[in-house]
Amino acid sequence: VCSSDLCGMRPTRQSRSRSTIRGQPVSRSQPDVISSDCMNAAIIVAAGTGSRFGSDVPKQFLEVAGRPIVAHAISTFERATSIDSVIVVVSEDRVGYATDFLSKNNFTKVTAVAVGGDTRALSVRSGAEQLPEGAQIVLIHDGARPLLNLADIDAVINAARSKGAACLVAPVTETIKRVENGIVDATVDRAPLRRALTPQAFRRDVFEAMMESGDSGLATTDECMLAERLGFEVAAVEGDSANIKVTHPHDLLTVEAFLRSNG
Ligand code: CTP
Ligand code: MG
Repeated sequence: VCSSDLCGMRPTRQSRSRSTIRGQPVSRSQPDVISSDCMNAAIIVAAGTGSRFGSDVPKQFLEVAGRPIVAHAISTFERATSIDSVIVVVSEDRVGYATDFLSKNNFTKVTAVAVGGDTRALSVRSGAEQLPEGAQIVLIHDGARPLLNLADIDAVINAARSKGAACLVAPVTETIKRVENGIVDATVDRAPLRRALTPQAFRRDVFEAMMESGDSGLATTDECMLAERLGFEVAAVEGDSANIKVTHPHDLLTVEAFLRSNG
């Protein structure tokens, strides 16, 4: 439930612009108008090539427990009552494939499929162009993270609503060394360190400022970096450390085991 002072900054009734892929309307089955006092939209980026993973099919499209990794992520957003709209960003050659599995899975909240760019930051920008006008909170999620949970989605939305920007984090469990030229230079105090997970969430005004900041050339590996650079306070929300990003082939084994044991 949203309080009007937090989310009701715009009129509640508004027409969502039709979803497009490079200007072409995308035919999808959901209604053309989404009206809500407090609309939350998620951009799921899945346009990477997975160079570290090294498979022919990009990692986010490998099937685990009967469907592509990215479909597990989309499915969690579909089930989140706090989420109204989902935008999926894929590379140009995957648009047909993505549209196909989206309709097979009957993902009714997906309002657009956008074409990604050469960097993650550019893929986020492409997804941002498809945001519904009424979206008050914008979440960015890695399509290669299939193990996020519903509680973390709500927690990061609530933190963004009150603070403007929020990052899901998890503790660092390993001892961390700083290494220079093959020699250990120092052991870093890990107590204040956190791993940055996704989703990360932003109030719309903060998100627009981030997109307008023109920092897309920076090697940003997450969106919070942009907010931090602009001087926004970013709330750190302790999330589920099981929410790993599939990066190397062995991560897939973890995901398979997790999905098998958790249904
Ligand atoms: N991503 C994207 N567009 C890009 C690069 C990355 O949408 N140009 C997405 C990936 O598909 C992934 C998420 O951003 O869901 C996190 O990125 P990462 O794990 O680094 O994936 P890749 O960039 O594909 O992998 P690698 O860095 O090993 O090449
Ligand atoms: Mg990458």
